Amino acid sequence: MSDPAIHVQDVSLRFSSGSEAVTALDGVSVAFGHGEFVAVMGASGSGKTSMLHVIAGLEVPDSGVVRVADADLAGLGANARADVRLHEIGLVFQDDNLLPMLTAQENVALPLRARGWTAAQAAEEADAWLGRVGLAGMEGRRPVELSGGQRQRVGIARAVAGGRRILLADEPTGALDSVTTREILSLLRALADDGVCVVVVTHDDVVRDYADHVWTMSDGRLSGGTDTSASALTTGSHA
Ligand SMILES: Nc1ncnc2c1ncn2[C@@H]1O[C@H](COP(=O)(O)OP(=O)(O)O)[C@@H](O)[C@H]1O
Ligand SMILES: [Mg+2]
Repeated sequence: MSDPAIHVQDVSLRFSSGSEAVTALDGVSVAFGHGEFVAVMGASGSGKTSMLHVIAGLEVPDSGVVRVADADLAGLGANARADVRLHEIGLVFQDDNLLPMLTAQENVALPLRARGWTAAQAAEEADAWLGRVGLAGMEGRRPVELSGGQRQRVGIARAVAGGRRILLADEPTGALDSVTTREILSLLRALADDGVCVVVVTHDDVVRDYADHVWTMSDGRLSGGTDTSASALTTGSHA
């Protein structure tokens, strides 16, 4: 793979709670490319969220290298890591994490405003992405006026608006029914086909139908990387 979007090398992360030391990540090495839909599966407590947090620069590993969008996160301070996140990385959670008092458009526009976009530019970009995720006409609705699946779509639009090409999703379908789960995974698949690096951590097996690569996390160690070639199945030949 040339020029991966995410490159993790020998990363370990330990937590100490009281006298107990927990190894959340134990020598993880992996590279994820643009245009790839990657699933990381594993039991609760295996280290999935820890891996996403390290890639997002929310946690700094005790050892190892994390390169994201050509930035060496371990060598950056908290403010610089937040800046990489704001410009390059979108996060999606099980709960939509939308601000309840803001409309869908305002929620998507918020990180763009934080990047210095004008209100008009941010609103235009937000509307374009809301249309792309299937919410045209719903830009003015507040989260309470949307279904769970629609709220996740807003969260996905917020994650990728403004040209962010890395989307990290932590159990994004954990609160959704099976039909809505497939709709959301199809949307993430389409974003990957457009060049976004999509990393989904989950214990939901259905993600296998959509992912190019499925990794398994167990006790902080990553294994597998099976090529499931979902994109080859859904979009024809995929060199
Ligand atoms: N902030 C923290 N403080 C102490 N231990 C933590 C913290 N975050 C995670 N852990 C521990 O690290 C391990 C991996 O957790 P996590 O990455 O959340 O796993 P998963 O997302 O797969 O459920 C678990 O043993 C968990 O208890
Ligand atoms: Mg987790």
